[in-house]
Amino acid sequence: MSIDNNGLITSINPAAERMTGSTEEKAIGQFISSVVTNLGLLEVLKKGEPYSEKYQVGKRKYISNRSPIIRNGKVVGAVGVFQDISEIEFISAELSSVENILNEKNIVLESSNDAILITDYQGEIIQANQAFLRILGLGSIPESYNSLVGDYFDTSIVSTVLENQQLITVMERNKKNQNLLMVTGTPVTTTEGKIDRIVINLRNITEIDHLRRELAPFSFFTAISSEPPLVCISIGSHKDRKKDTLVNIETTKEFVINSVSEEWVEQMDQTGTPFEASVNEFEQVGLTPEASLIIKPPRVKEAKVSMECKLYELLALGADFTLVIGQVVNFHIAKEVYLPDYKIDHTQLKAVGRLAGSYARTTDNFPVKRR
Ligand SMILES: Cc1cc2nc3c(=O)[nH]c(=O)nc-3n(C[C@H](O)[C@H](O)[C@H](O)COP(=O)(O)O)c2cc1C
Repeated sequence: MSIDNNGLITSINPAAERMTGSTEEKAIGQFISSVVTNLGLLEVLKKGEPYSEKYQVGKRKYISNRSPIIRNGKVVGAVGVFQDISEIEFISAELSSVENILNEKNIVLESSNDAILITDYQGEIIQANQAFLRILGLGSIPESYNSLVGDYFDTSIVSTVLENQQLITVMERNKKNQNLLMVTGTPVTTTEGKIDRIVINLRNITEIDHLRRELAPFSFFTAISSEPPLVCISIGSHKDRKKDTLVNIETTKEFVINSVSEEWVEQMDQTGTPFEASVNEFEQVGLTPEASLIIKPPRVKEAKVSMECKLYELLALGADFTLVIGQVVNFHIAKEVYLPDYKIDHTQLKAVGRLAGSYARTTDNFPVKRR
């Protein structure tokens, strides 16, 4: 749209017609303020200087560039070019929301304690989080996951996922620092069903593995509530350090209580030796760890009754002892000792008890008739 030096409209194109809601026929020769409310062009006429601004008409956004028309050094009119930038504004809003989503994704990736990385189908790393560098002890992200085979891993999860065409979990020992890693490769497929990305999670399970080693007998044990089902043990301390059992319970808030039967009383007794924390006590005494269903520490496979417990409360008793109260979240009961109506067959369980320095059997039961 342009005006002469009197402010009368001299030209208006179809887009400006739409913007002003006027027509060429009506507008030409009219004073500009009778057609548009924004009097920017008159300002340009007065000052003889160009200027640009953004403004809004209804829901649409515009940018305008207004310039004086100068002839022989004199301002003889002004021309305004108005551009509808609603779409551009919309796209820029879309872009910033995509940016926010990407930021959000990065925050999630970086907040993970487990390594997460995304590779293409050839194992080229597209993205990896800091936990990946930390867990493997790497200084920078390598280009290819497969390049880690040899120095860090024995196999590549990328190849295993491609061979099997499905989600795979394997245990790998980091050859550099001996950490035990649980590595899961999840294939991401295109709409045609081809694998084009693999999401890899690496979790350091050295600590969980460590829990697979700890066993000790505790005779200060009893049940203290049926609803909720609570049991307790009382743990003293070694001369110079806390008992590993207590350290583990404080750290993981989980433990298993296994009822000891006559069949494995000797192995149980040996676990009472104050082994160093690094010793695998299951292996040392010849008992078998079996994965628990709900908690991380394993149970003793040989036990006929095992209780998966979550820490309910710790209570310091004097200087040396700690009462550990656990809530049973899962019972494992061997078929041969299970009686209907939630009862246990003691004659089959053959639980042993500590009786001063020796052990006692529990098979010699007798009822007492109440008078
Ligand atoms: C039959 C038996 C019963 C025991 N009962 C307890 C007990 O109730 N509380 C305790 O602190 N230690 C008890 N002990 C000693 C611990 O089992 C022993 O200190 C063990 O080495 C602790 O192992 P940890 O350091 O791996 O936890 C008992 C030992 C035996 C052989």
